[in-house]
Amino acid sequence: MTAFRIFDSVADLIAGAERAIVQLVEKGTRSIALSGGLTPKPLYQSLGRNASIRQANITWVIVDERFVPIDDPQSNAGMIQQTLFASGMPPSHRFLRFHTELDDPAATARKFEREWQELAIDRLDLVLLGMGDDGHTASLFPGTPVLAVENRIASEVFVPRMNSWRVTLTKPVLRAAKMRFVLAEGAAKRPVIERVRSGSDDPIAQVTHLTETWWFVDREAVDSSEGSS
Ligand code: 6PG
Repeated sequence: MTAFRIFDSVADLIAGAERAIVQLVEKGTRSIALSGGLTPKPLYQSLGRNASIRQANITWVIVDERFVPIDDPQSNAGMIQQTLFASGMPPSHRFLRFHTELDDPAATARKFEREWQELAIDRLDLVLLGMGDDGHTASLFPGTPVLAVENRIASEVFVPRMNSWRVTLTKPVLRAAKMRFVLAEGAAKRPVIERVRSGSDDPIAQVTHLTETWWFVDREAVDSSEGSS
């Protein structure tokens, strides 16, 4: 159920993830959730130029959002618009994002849930996840109450270590997806990957434990003696 794919470089990791996503889309994957952060930017740029992806019928869903306007450099939706949709969103695609312009985190999460119902998304086909050095994934940070939310699609959460609000898909929604890809690169991620592999309860472990999850990591993020893809 868990597969680790180790790549010699970040460029190889991104190319490997792109190939795997295109294969899933060619086999019928239609709903794909997208994380923010730095790691997936080159992947979204490539997917935005990929003919198989552009021709497919895809609903993209944002995994989480920092509570800033879409034109703020911190905005995940803004990053996705500038990468995946740099040459425009194809007419066969839809994009469900958090409307931070409502200026109210709780109302933003509720609006997202209404739009999710309108799009009739029952269960996501694929979720692309990242992971922080502290073991967070999406905006599920260690010790925050959102980790205990079981009856929502999305929720607002105040993150003390960032001193800011976030909005995020909830743990049960991330766990219910048919497939999860976790992208992690760099030596800073190595301790948390080691913890997860030895059974920790970091948020990324809570989201992936006993689910179908493929990890795409570079050699720096794991013990350098492990074999590569
Ligand atoms: C965000 C995220 C978050 C991210 C990790 C890893 O909005 O920040 O969606 O969960 O995936 O923090 O980020 P990096 O790819 O920048 O390491």
